[in-house]
Amino acid sequence: MTDTLTAPAPQTKDVLTLRQPDDWHVHLRDGDMLNFCADYTARQFARAIVMPNLVPPITTEAMAAAYRDRILAALPEGRVFEPLMTAYLTDTIDPEEIARGFKSGVLTACKLYPANATTNSAHGVSDVKKIYGVLEKMQEIDMPLLVHGEVVSADIDIFDREAIFLEQILGPVIQAFPRLRVVLEHITTEDSVRFVEDGPDTIAATITAHHLRIDRNDMLVGGIRPHAYCLPVAKRRRHREALRAAAVSGNPKFFLGTDSAPHQRKDKESACGCAGIFSAPNAMESYAKTFEEMGALERLEGFASEFGPRFYQLPLNEGTITLRRRPQAIPDTLTVPGIEIVPFHAGEDVGWVFEG
Ligand code: NCD
Ligand code: ZN
Repeated sequence: MTDTLTAPAPQTKDVLTLRQPDDWHVHLRDGDMLNFCADYTARQFARAIVMPNLVPPITTEAMAAAYRDRILAALPEGRVFEPLMTAYLTDTIDPEEIARGFKSGVLTACKLYPANATTNSAHGVSDVKKIYGVLEKMQEIDMPLLVHGEVVSADIDIFDREAIFLEQILGPVIQAFPRLRVVLEHITTEDSVRFVEDGPDTIAATITAHHLRIDRNDMLVGGIRPHAYCLPVAKRRRHREALRAAAVSGNPKFFLGTDSAPHQRKDKESACGCAGIFSAPNAMESYAKTFEEMGALERLEGFASEFGPRFYQLPLNEGTITLRRRPQAIPDTLTVPGIEIVPFHAGEDVGWVFEG
C-alpha cells in the first residue's frame, strides 16, 4: 500500500487533538452487558468492527441487522456511532448469505474462529478447507476476512499457537486466495509482526492496547492475575517489544483494534476464568500512554484513525477528539446492578484523559 496519509502533525506535549479514531475489533456482547458496555466504545470511537461471537453466533444478514439495532438502542440519545457488523464463519455457512449481507451493506466482514479457540467459538471452523468456497466468494466480492490466529490442537503449547497458525493455516490461505483482504486480529508475537510486514498488501493486523503493555510475567509473576488473561495469551517480553515497534512504526498494515471483551469479575476470578480484557473505557488513553513512552505520539493518529479506514476502504472520520496529559486514576471496578467488571488499568494512573 502506498503511504500518502502519514505526514504526522506535530503534537504539543500535553494536548493531543486527533481525527476521531475507530476500533477495528471489539466485543459488545448482548442484553444487559451490551447496555453496560456499548457506550464506552461509542464515546471514544466513531465506528467499530463488532465481533459476532454471541450465543448463538451471528451467521446471517438478518441476525447482524437485528444485533446492529440492539447496539444502537443501547446507546444514549444523540450518540453518533456506526457499528460495522461481521458474520461468524461456520463449517456450513452459506456463501450466498454472506454475499447478500455484504452487498446490502449490513455485513462489513467475516470472522474466522478456529473451533474452540476462544470464548464462544464452539461453532467455529473445524478445518479451514471446509470454508474455501466461502473464501472464494469473499475474494470475488472483496469482502475482508478477519482471523483469530490460533491453532487449537491439544498437543500444541498455548504460547506457540499463534506462530503455528501462520505456518499451517494463514500462509496457505493467503497463497490460495491472493486477492482476499485479511486482517490478522489482535497479534501477540514477533512472528506475526514479521508475517504481516513481509506479506502482500492484502494482509494487515490489529493490535490491542493491552498487548502493547503486558507480557506473560504480568499475568503470572507474584500470583496469577486473571484480569491480565486474554486470548491470544500475552507472550514473552520480546514479543511485546515487537508489537510496540510495529504499532508506532507508521506502517499502515498495523492499526487499532482493542479486542475489548468484558466478562463479569466473578467469571474472571474463578477456577476456570474467562479470557478477555475490558479496555474500552480508557482505550485511547492507554494507547496514548504507550505511544508517549515510545516517543511516538505523532504516530498515534495514523494508527488509530487513518490506517484502519484505508484498509477497509472506508472514508476517514471528519470529527476530532482531544486527549489531555493529566493523571487519571482508573477505578478498581465498574459496577451497575447485576454487573461488576474490573477494567484494564484498574487501580493505576493511565496518565491521560479522553476529553471527547
Ligand atoms: C474474547 C471474548 O471474550 O469474546 N476474549 C479474548 O480473550 N479476546 C474472544 C476473542 O477475541 O478471542
Ligand atoms: Zn476478540
